[in-house]
Amino acid sequence: TTVDLAADDYELGGHPDFMRKEMAEQPEAVARALRGRLDERFATAHLGGLGLDPMALRAVRRVKFLGCGSAYYAGQMGATLVEELARIPADAEPASEFRYRNPVVDPDALYVAISQSGETLDTLAAVQELRRKGGRVIGAVNVVGSAIARECGSGVFLHAGPEVSVASTKALTNMTVSFAMLGLLLGRVRDLSAASGQRIVSGLRALPAQIEEILTEDARVQQVAKRHAHARHMFFLGRVRGWPVAREGAQKLKEISYVHAEAYQSAELKHGPLALIDADMPSVVVVPHDELLAKNIGTMEQIRARGGPVIAVTNAEIPEGLADEVIRVPRGEPELDPILLTIPLQLLAYHIAAELGRDIDKPRNLAKSVTVE
Ligand code: G6P
Repeated sequence: TTVDLAADDYELGGHPDFMRKEMAEQPEAVARALRGRLDERFATAHLGGLGLDPMALRAVRRVKFLGCGSAYYAGQMGATLVEELARIPADAEPASEFRYRNPVVDPDALYVAISQSGETLDTLAAVQELRRKGGRVIGAVNVVGSAIARECGSGVFLHAGPEVSVASTKALTNMTVSFAMLGLLLGRVRDLSAASGQRIVSGLRALPAQIEEILTEDARVQQVAKRHAHARHMFFLGRVRGWPVAREGAQKLKEISYVHAEAYQSAELKHGPLALIDADMPSVVVVPHDELLAKNIGTMEQIRARGGPVIAVTNAEIPEGLADEVIRVPRGEPELDPILLTIPLQLLAYHIAAELGRDIDKPRNLAKSVTVE
């Protein structure tokens, strides 16, 4: 397959680097991923490339997402979305672990191989292992005609456009948007009501404008970044919907700024890592406006009580004075919160890396796609 690429896909077009350009392209990238796939009448999504009819969709009893790096974290967000929307057990696993542990391949499961490049060796090998054992595997791939797309034969293309920066931004966002559509589709052939489906359809349609709004907070995030750029370590905390967001946020910071970042489920803090909290250890706390808000407020209080700086990334109202920094995100449908909450963490990592003078598009020791062991 050949793809027509506009010449400016590989040019900076006035941006200082590709990561910044690709973050800015997210509203249009998401709009592309949604185009022609949302169905208002039946309050569902159309993902024709899956090649699964309603009976096959109903036969899926479990969903497993496989990928490496950011694609794995996107898979974890996907697992949360699928469980919430379709009430099917779902999880994510790094493709490398899966391929090497002699996996039990469940004939009733749907496996989703996630890859921006479509060339990551560990993910490709996981797909081959699955196919060899008769597993049903679809791709969630950005590059058309890539090895993983071909090996899977069916799936959902991400339509993010070419991504050059090693740190994935728009491709990762389109992965989670695609998994929201997958969850919607699986949900609507089960017990997700038309009204709930409609709520998700509208929530998805609202995303491009909401992401645009988050991007206008750039200067504010830059200020926060400047104040914390010289921390040697940072925690990223979240629970349930916020947990994979925290993991992805920590990953971004590590890969482009070389600041040591560690992600924890907020409730695990008291089981060990709380011992590390002091004035030199900022915590980024992901706080969605959902039923766990009070718990997240408790987490921030625990950190504050030990003198740790708190950076809250939130679409909720949080008590005055609880966080040293508050980065606000517009409120949408709660299930889709991870998609929006991830964006400011990209900006935060970006600005910390910029402040430290790092080579943002090409971090040391890393490659855009890893096609070797
Ligand atoms: C490399 C990159 C990561 C990326 C991962 C998976 O490690 O540095 O940014 O998330 O590969 O890449 P893929 O192309 O399979 O999504």
